[in-house]
Amino acid sequence: MGVPALDLDRCVDVAAVEDIPEGEGRCYEIDGQAVAVFRDDGVFYAVSDTCTHEEHSLSVGVVWDHTVECPKHVARFDLVTGEVLSLPATVSVESYALEVRDGRISVAPPTYGRWRPCPECGTSAVER
Ligand code: FES
Repeated sequence: MGVPALDLDRCVDVAAVEDIPEGEGRCYEIDGQAVAVFRDDGVFYAVSDTCTHEEHSLSVGVVWDHTVECPKHVARFDLVTGEVLSLPATVSVESYALEVRDGRISVAPPTYGRWRPCPECGTSAVER
């Protein structure tokens, strides 16, 4: 069982792959919500841009090992699942599936559905 295909008609085209340098993030508004898209080790991830501690933007955080560290008080979040990994934040952020096709990044909007990491490949997958 692989990763279910995204319905790209329902996804939002946010950027070209070259718009997001390796090890950095960018913030985009999708369905009225701030979504941070990161590139780490050649892989793209999308999570809520708003840190659950004091609402600092995560898109300007430090990225490493498929995590992002909030620049304000250094809480860390898993970029695949959005899970909070360290204090002072105690609540996870939302994670969103995305797809890269023809050099463009499309992100599933927050209203698309629930997400979980694929147990086989570790990337985000649709839970319908
Ligand atoms: S605002 Fe992110 S850790 Fe405090």
